[in-house]
Amino acid sequence: MKVTIVGAGNVGASCAEYIAIKEIAEEIILLDIKEGFAEGKALDLTQTTSTLGFRSKILGVTNQYEKTSNSDVVVITSGIPRKPGMTREELIGINAGIVKSVSENLLKFSPDAVIIVVSNPMDTMTYLVNKSFNLSKNKIIGMGGILDSSRFKTYISKSTKYSQHEIDAMVIGGHGDTTMIPVTSNAKCSDILLSEILTKEEILNITTNTMVGGATLTKLLGTSAWYAPGASVSYLVNAIVNDTKEILPCSVLLNGEYGAKDLCIGVPVIIGKNGFEDIIEIDLNNIEVEMFKKSVEAVKQTNSALDGLI
Ligand code: NAI
Ligand code: 2OP
Repeated sequence: MKVTIVGAGNVGASCAEYIAIKEIAEEIILLDIKEGFAEGKALDLTQTTSTLGFRSKILGVTNQYEKTSNSDVVVITSGIPRKPGMTREELIGINAGIVKSVSENLLKFSPDAVIIVVSNPMDTMTYLVNKSFNLSKNKIIGMGGILDSSRFKTYISKSTKYSQHEIDAMVIGGHGDTTMIPVTSNAKCSDILLSEILTKEEILNITTNTMVGGATLTKLLGTSAWYAPGASVSYLVNAIVNDTKEILPCSVLLNGEYGAKDLCIGVPVIIGKNGFEDIIEIDLNNIEVEMFKKSVEAVKQTNSALDGLI
């Protein structure tokens, strides 16, 4: 399996590291626009081969798209990250142009690849890729919900005696501070509903912390996070290359599901070797249904900034 990651910055390099360590793909190509940067990251990572004990090969290139040819999966992390005080939505002006040109170049050499979009505002960037190229929608997947769900599980674990491995919880909706929906109505710890373990106030606290999870890290780090984002992308890559059929929350093009159409937003999907296979419609309570409607409106509003680009 061959995986290309565009953007050898914090998230791209971290994702490459996890894919290598877990031997998810035999061949990993890191591509960046900054001269020598991807080469440097790839060489540094390659020098962990003997100490960490993996067999994956990592190659770094500057803008040499021909080296990415016949990739099974391509990951787009190129673009600028948020700085403290910025929303993901504010990145659209710069990132839309980058994501469109990068996708075009990638598709010239890997027309059949599954595309994972990470650059923010991720739901809008995923929609941009869907609208710009004549591809099967199943091959275009935005990653944000897996990360948000891992933050949700972190905060649930911190508030209960349960380890993250015992927690079943998911975040759907937009990948934004005000648009994501931690689904508390069916979140469970060892099969026990969260509402039977914690008070309403404690659950509300978890929801709030989850929603601003990215902003909290941006404030602490001075830029956006990379370990959990990189790990979340590698988890999705693994589900694709190993055809696991796992149900994961991802941003995909809706056509009537959840009462919405013509936008990409986070919903549970079945992941396999050809991308997402199906959208799963889970039961939501009335509050979550209302939150989903508002999230759809907000993501559509951000998408309107793409006018002229698609
Ligand atoms: P970074 O600045 O560390 O890395 C971005 C890299 O993209 C840089 O090395 C830059 O040289 C490269 N780049 C820029 N334009 C390019 C082009 N045209 N072709 C190739 N490479 C290009 O940023 P970081 O922290 O890795 O974040 C990357 C993106 O991912 C940001 O937009 C950020 O907001 C987003 N992000 C999304 C998450 C999600 O869950 N969807 C989570 C974390 C970050
Ligand atoms: C994150 O959630 C900013 O999307 C980035 O960390």
